[in-house]
Amino acid sequence: MCGIFGYIGTDNHAAQKTVNGLKDLEYRGYDSWGIAVRSPRAQELYSRKNVGKISGVAEKDFANIVGDMSIGHSRWATHGGVTKKNAHPHFNHDKTIAVVHNGIIENADVLRRRLSEGKRNLFVSETDTEVIPHLIDYHMKMGKSLEDAFVATCGDLKGRFAFVVMHTESDFLLAARSGSPLIIGKGEGEYFIASDIPAFLEYTQVVNYLDDGEYVKLNRTEARFRSFHTQKKIQKKDIPIVFNKEAASKGEWDHFMLKEIVEQKDSLARAINQDDKAIKKIAREIQKARGVFLSGCGTAGKVCMAAEYFFSVVAERHTNFAPSSEFPIYHHFLRPESLLVAVSQSGETADVLEAMKVAKRKKSKVLSLVNVSGSSVARASDYSLLINAGPEKAVASTKAATSQLALLLLIAYATAGKLKEGKELLIGLVGKINDQLNPKYLEYIKKVAEIIFRENDVYIIGKSANYPMALEAAIKIQEVSYIHAEGFAGGELKHGPIALVKKNTPCIALLANDETKDDMLSNVAELKARGAYIIGIAPEDHALFDKWISVPDVGAASPIANLIPIQILAYYLAVLRGNNPDMPRNLAKSVTVK
Ligand code: AGP
Repeated sequence: MCGIFGYIGTDNHAAQKTVNGLKDLEYRGYDSWGIAVRSPRAQELYSRKNVGKISGVAEKDFANIVGDMSIGHSRWATHGGVTKKNAHPHFNHDKTIAVVHNGIIENADVLRRRLSEGKRNLFVSETDTEVIPHLIDYHMKMGKSLEDAFVATCGDLKGRFAFVVMHTESDFLLAARSGSPLIIGKGEGEYFIASDIPAFLEYTQVVNYLDDGEYVKLNRTEARFRSFHTQKKIQKKDIPIVFNKEAASKGEWDHFMLKEIVEQKDSLARAINQDDKAIKKIAREIQKARGVFLSGCGTAGKVCMAAEYFFSVVAERHTNFAPSSEFPIYHHFLRPESLLVAVSQSGETADVLEAMKVAKRKKSKVLSLVNVSGSSVARASDYSLLINAGPEKAVASTKAATSQLALLLLIAYATAGKLKEGKELLIGLVGKINDQLNPKYLEYIKKVAEIIFRENDVYIIGKSANYPMALEAAIKIQEVSYIHAEGFAGGELKHGPIALVKKNTPCIALLANDETKDDMLSNVAELKARGAYIIGIAPEDHALFDKWISVPDVGAASPIANLIPIQILAYYLAVLRGNNPDMPRNLAKSVTVK
């Protein structure tokens, strides 16, 4: 949650650079934004903040703000409402120290009370962040240098944080990380710091990652890393970045969500293009583990739930799925021989990291599947595989989800000793998805969306690995169209949910051409008998369907094929209802708070 950007260099248009960088981070939070700039000889830091999206702000409006050092923030509110006062940066009383922060300071209330003793109206916002500049200020007033005060402040804070600090009288930026991402971009006589790489990709492709417990002091020519626990120096290797700015930009597309849906033509192929040796090694770990747990959040969680079926059906291997927020409750079952498979697009999701911590405490092994290399999840894992979906900017996860599914299905096949068979199946799937994802197909699904977009409720059913896909379909429709959508196992309808179905209620059935098909058709018939409007997503049309959306017949890979039209449908439902599918209300792309 929240995007952080910082610049120090020789360009006097640091403010414009910061606004530009924040636009690339807006997917992380878009309630409000703000910047602070250090202008030469100024007593106070200049700042500008507002509620709303940074994308609506013109960079030229910052052209006459002079300063070669700046920090900025795009917010997803946690502590305090969406107001200009709560927008970052936050300052000390004299406005000499500015801070932008991502994460949650868990002991903010205690610190606020302590700092407020004998002082009225010290705090101007309701945020947890505001304690940081006041703490630094306090330590400086006790005689510490800015850097020492900053380090002392890191020690005062409990919780997950990433923050950047700027001071009127110091020619450097300071930034610390404990749980939330910060990456440093190294330019010529300039440095950038941001929550995600695309924010500075047009200026540099060389980065250093800040790890938990570390801080960096950035001046124009040097980045000095130290532990904020011990102040010990840390050497970092420069890491070249492989993706380019184009991959992370919208291009000709109206929305990232549609661009990313269509990109599945390529992203699926990249997901399965893995080193056989690495996959076989992972398969061996799964075979020998005593207790395999699959965990992720939201869409990644539904992917894990589908993988539970993959391992059962393809490899006859028992695995256990739990959403990461629930996973800690299972700690009794963990032992050193257990394996946690953690799945996360961003690799920064707090609940996933917490689940991994629980597994580590029990000395269990952790395998992760992530899309962002160098992410916290990848770094904290014993083994990590990249799904290689490319940057996913829309809040709704689409191409990452199908890449995760494809890779987990491949691993299930490898666990069964059938890697070659799995590869052939998935290569076949890639070809069929390539044929299918054409403008005519999109247009057809748009027409289906036009039939149902005014409805208040949509129900989705599936069986076996298509049951979690029904749950995922509900997430997709809920988050971008705001239509009430719920997914069920087809066989569960008659035990309660069918009472919700009235004449013309849209019901979507996800079918596969396998042993589940007949049962699913019976469930569809039950819905039809109650007057439901049936949209069948299936390899073949059926008399029970009012509308048929065709998908390729791809055996065990059917959840992947079935999910794609759902993503397209959700996209058009959002657009037809006048929503911006890339930035749904109340959400943010990566959820770095518990
Ligand atoms: C997906 O459409 C959602 N926005 C959300 O459920 C997401 O999948 C979840 O927050 C997990 O994110 P991660 O994959 O980055 O860990």
